[in-house]
Amino acid sequence: METGFQLLLKDQTMASAKLNIANNPFTAGHGKVPPFLAGREDDKHKLYELLGRTIGGEVVTSNLYIFAPRGMGKTSLLEQVGKELKSLNRDKGKSAVIMTAVNAMQTVEEARKTLIDDIGISFRNSLLPEKVIADLNILSAQWSAKEKSWSSVCGYLAEKCRKRPVVFMVDEAHRLSPDVLAAVVDDIEMIRRKDGPVVGVFAGKPLLLDVIGEAGVSYEERSDYISLDLLNDRDSAAAIEYPMSTSSIKITRSAMNQVVEDAQGYPTYLQYWGSELWKLGIEKTGQNVIGEADVALVRPEISKRKQLADQSRFDRWSKEDSRLLVSLTERLRDIGGVNRLCMEEMIEEELERQGRNIVETDRIFRKMIETDYVWSPLGTTNYKAALPSYFSFILGQEMERAAQQKSA
Ligand SMILES: Nc1ncnc2c1ncn2[C@@H]1O[C@H](COP(=O)(O)OP(=O)(O)OP(=O)(O)O)[C@@H](O)[C@H]1O
Ligand SMILES: [Mg+2]
Repeated sequence: METGFQLLLKDQTMASAKLNIANNPFTAGHGKVPPFLAGREDDKHKLYELLGRTIGGEVVTSNLYIFAPRGMGKTSLLEQVGKELKSLNRDKGKSAVIMTAVNAMQTVEEARKTLIDDIGISFRNSLLPEKVIADLNILSAQWSAKEKSWSSVCGYLAEKCRKRPVVFMVDEAHRLSPDVLAAVVDDIEMIRRKDGPVVGVFAGKPLLLDVIGEAGVSYEERSDYISLDLLNDRDSAAAIEYPMSTSSIKITRSAMNQVVEDAQGYPTYLQYWGSELWKLGIEKTGQNVIGEADVALVRPEISKRKQLADQSRFDRWSKEDSRLLVSLTERLRDIGGVNRLCMEEMIEEELERQGRNIVETDRIFRKMIETDYVWSPLGTTNYKAALPSYFSFILGQEMERAAQQKSA
């Protein structure tokens, strides 16, 4: 199987493309597949294992859940794997990778219609006869009119999946209501029990684990999990270096070290840096080498963007909650990660210190997860800072506030 890098090298059009500002290979924005998906090889293998078997017609027994804070690369991973699977499956019609938006799955009924539609669409794009599509439309109508049971609909879908195995990807799955998630997982299971090769991949923010819990989908049974953490230094450098090299831009080691240090392994920041430095790189004539001076030139712009993102995250807290967050951040900075019980005790202590009721603990903990303040990656029990720089931002806010108070 080709790696992302091999695919990238194959895409020579990028290298030969005229170097103008519109050809920036970096993807400084959420949901945009990066030019080179760095450091996710193991995760991709885990996905291919399960999806490959399904596509090969095997009825697997588990689904896959991917969770990570904002901007860690969930959508990119799904898109990249989807793209690669499709390119492996060039002889059209053999299998389908479907990416579904949660907006079309607000209720159980909507989710089921989407499932029928999506499996229908997968046929629409294939070389299978028109009749199959017409059949699915009729089926959907019959089910809506309660003329057909859901179980018999699943039987029909299973038959379709046997002709064309389906990978059903749901991004932003933390936004599904627990009953919808439970229904979709049950439906996938029912299609499988009727011998249809189908698999579900659900990606979302760490809150997804709560939704899974509330949906009653067991954590151990019939599920695989992946969490995406920050990239290590080597992979961070690769995320910048490879796309630069396709535009024949080089970057000095010391400049790269500074970028890697600033981005702290966060894919979103790496793309910010890459994008801005690339612009400088193509403006240079002759030797396109990015050095420390270029990094210094770009730094204010990157800081501004990070600041804006952190500020909007912090603004989601009320005044008294944000005071509590500051105290917690001061304590967490010194001890690193803590387990859930310990975190809850710390929240309670801070609430008491503020003379507030400790019944608020749950709400605050949930919001901490929701706003990417802390999270706990797979295989750890400790909650640690979710996004680099957010802790420093909060502490900086506090210093500013204290300074203002002093001068007032
Ligand atoms: N492995 C990676 N290597 C390099 N860049 C990456 C990688 N993963 C993601 N990116 C880049 O990081 C940014 C965020 O990625 P993406 O939107 O996929 O994250 P996400 O986890 O889906 O975020 P959100 O929670 O907002 O949906 C994008 O600019 C993307 O191109
Ligand atoms: Mg996303």
